[in-house]
Amino acid sequence: MSDTPKIAISNQKGGVGKTTVAINVAGALNTCDHDVLFVDLDPQGNATEGLGLEEEYEAQPPTLFDVLTDHEAREDVDSLIVSHPEMDVLPSNIDMTSIEPELTMAMRGRERLGQVFDALDADYDVILIDCPPYLGNLTDNALLAAENVLIPALAESTSKRALEILFDQMEVLEAEYDTQVRDLGVVANRVETTNEAKTMLAWFDEAFSDVPVWEIRKRVTLQRAFSAGCSIFELEEDCDMTAQFLAIAEELERQLGLVEVTA
Ligand SMILES: Nc1ncnc2c1ncn2[C@@H]1O[C@H](COP(=O)(O)OP(=O)(O)OP(=O)(O)O)[C@@H](O)[C@H]1O
Ligand SMILES: [Mg+2]
Repeated sequence: MSDTPKIAISNQKGGVGKTTVAINVAGALNTCDHDVLFVDLDPQGNATEGLGLEEEYEAQPPTLFDVLTDHEAREDVDSLIVSHPEMDVLPSNIDMTSIEPELTMAMRGRERLGQVFDALDADYDVILIDCPPYLGNLTDNALLAAENVLIPALAESTSKRALEILFDQMEVLEAEYDTQVRDLGVVANRVETTNEAKTMLAWFDEAFSDVPVWEIRKRVTLQRAFSAGCSIFELEEDCDMTAQFLAIAEELERQLGLVEVTA
C-alpha cells in the first residue's frame, strides 16, 4: 500500500471545510471510478458520524487509536474498515481524543499512520485523510504519510496567517524527515459574493500562482448531503458545485497519476 497516492486534507484552522471538501472530493473520485479509502483522523469524528458510522465512533477497542499506538494491533487495520456506497472508511473513534500525548511518548510517533498504511492488505486507488483542526502529532502523521496536501481555506483575511503557520510546519517536517510535502492546491471554500471574498480570492491566486486554486461557493446542498451521510454526488438533488469537485478530482488524477496516460 505504500505506493498508493495519499492526500492529507489539512488546515489547522477550525471549521474551514476540511471534512466537507474531503467527503465531496471522495465522492467525485468515486464518480471517476476510483476506489477511495477515506481516513477520518480527527478525534471529533465528524466525517465518521457524518458518513453514518456512529457505532464505529463509539466502538470498543481495537480501534484506530490502537492501530496507531500499538505495533501488535497494527495488523488489525483491515478489520476496522467499513464500506460506504461511495468509499471505504477507516473511522475515527472517541479514544482518539487522548492520542496526542501517547504519540508524543511513542517511538517514531509521527510515522505511525504511514506504518498503518504499510500494514493494509486492501488495495485502493487513492487514500484521503481528513485532518483534525490543530497542528500536532496526528496532523504531522497525515502530512508525513501522505506527502501530499490539499488545503481548504475560507476566503477571509484570517486564512493568511493560518496558511503561513501550516507551511512553516510542513517545512519543519521536510527538514526533520528529509521528505517533501507537495501542495496539490487550495480549495477556497464557502465563498460568498462579498468584497472580502473577492479580495481574498485574488490573494489566493497570487500567493498560490504555481498550484490550482478552486472556488467552492456557499451552498446548503453541501450541508444537506452531509446530513444525508453522503457527498453531493449521491444526493438526489442538483448542485452546481459538482462540476467544481469533478474538476478537483480530475486535477488530482493528473497530478498523482491516477489515470494511465497512453503515449
Ligand atoms: N461550501 C459550503 N457551503 C455551505 N456550508 C459549508 C460549506 N463548507 C462547509 N460548510 C459547513 O461549514 C461547517 C464546517 O465545515 P466542516 O465541518 O467541513 O469544516 P472542518 O474544517 O472539517 O471543521 P473542523 O475544523 O471542526 O474539522 C459545516 O457545518 C459544513 O456543513
Ligand atoms: Mg472536520
